[in-house]
Amino acid sequence: TTVFVFNGPNLNLLGTRKPEVYGTTVLTDVEALCRESAAAHHLELDFRQTNHEGVLVDWIHEAGAAVKRADAVGLILNAAAYTHTSVALHDAIEGAELPTVEVHISNVHGRETFRHHSFVSPVAAGIVVGFGVDGYALAIDGLVRKVRPLRA
Ligand code: DQA
Repeated sequence: TTVFVFNGPNLNLLGTRKPEVYGTTVLTDVEALCRESAAAHHLELDFRQTNHEGVLVDWIHEAGAAVKRADAVGLILNAAAYTHTSVALHDAIEGAELPTVEVHISNVHGRETFRHHSFVSPVAAGIVVGFGVDGYALAIDGLVRKVRPLRA
């Protein structure tokens, strides 16, 4: 069983882009952190990054189909700037009925007002914002708790 982690535009530059906002960790380190977190839940990791909106749409459809086959638990999505612009991503997540946790490394609500609105949030199972790259691990834990609730 797989957990998908998709990263949107400019996240390939993580570590060098605005390190005062996003830190110095690079995306391959985030992938390693996610792999560790996935493994702790006995999940395979499928970790990807693209700068193209339509590619994210195709990947969301693919992830939705995998969840329907019970081959995957859901998606951790840092849609980056497309978060604030993309009706297509909103519709894709909704249409694919894909359990999705929205992640942002920075606290978008403490930044420019154009980062305060998210097209992803209304169709997200949960949101993790402002915990730096650790947010990815928190999101994987949160997704697993949603889809496999802990029993007393
Ligand atoms: C981001 C926040 C977005 O506003 C921004 O466009 C990004 C990264 C984050 O992880 O903090 O590229 O999603």
